[in-house]
Amino acid sequence: MDSAHVEDDLVNVLFTEAQIQARLKELAREIEVDYEGKDILIVGILRGAVMVMADMARSFARHVEMDWMAVSSYGSGTKSSGVVRILKDLDTDISGRDVIIVDEIIDTGLTLSWLSSNLSSRSPASVEICTLLRKPEALQMPVDVKYVGWDIPNEFVVGYGLDYRERYRNLRDIGTLAPHVYS
Ligand code: PRP
Repeated sequence: MDSAHVEDDLVNVLFTEAQIQARLKELAREIEVDYEGKDILIVGILRGAVMVMADMARSFARHVEMDWMAVSSYGSGTKSSGVVRILKDLDTDISGRDVIIVDEIIDTGLTLSWLSSNLSSRSPASVEICTLLRKPEALQMPVDVKYVGWDIPNEFVVGYGLDYRERYRNLRDIGTLAPHVYS
């Protein structure tokens, strides 16, 4: 789905498909340099990170292993508690492995902060975070993020994996959702 198909639902297009692909290639190059000679395991956080994982993994000019986790906050309205429940754990034993957690957005930072310390407790060689987007103004928990696509304002963004009530994930671009859609 292109932005033109949901034009009335968007205030603007923040990043086009081409800009996203170019930025992911840059991030993949950075990671390749930083991890030269090492086997990388990239861990995608379902469901939003599917697009980033698929495109970034294919941007690498080397082998990368991929695994997935699904997490959820306990109930609704408790996201701010920082309590996270694992719905699907890794299939991979990460002890001694160089792990990069890949997500599409860091909002409050609670999910990634929790995940990072959870994976760090499994004796990996290293754990780093890569996110396509980050909202610095929304951060409630400091998260050490090594690779960031873009910092964005604290607005409701959709597309490229990011949803509003499970819609817009398959939008190729990333856009700011118009208030009339959610108000
Ligand atoms: C999003 C995103 C992160 C999390 C970030 O997932 O993929 O995992 O929220 O938010 P935080 O920084 O405030 O913790 P979401 O819970 O929307 O699930 P989804 O990926 O299935 O859409």
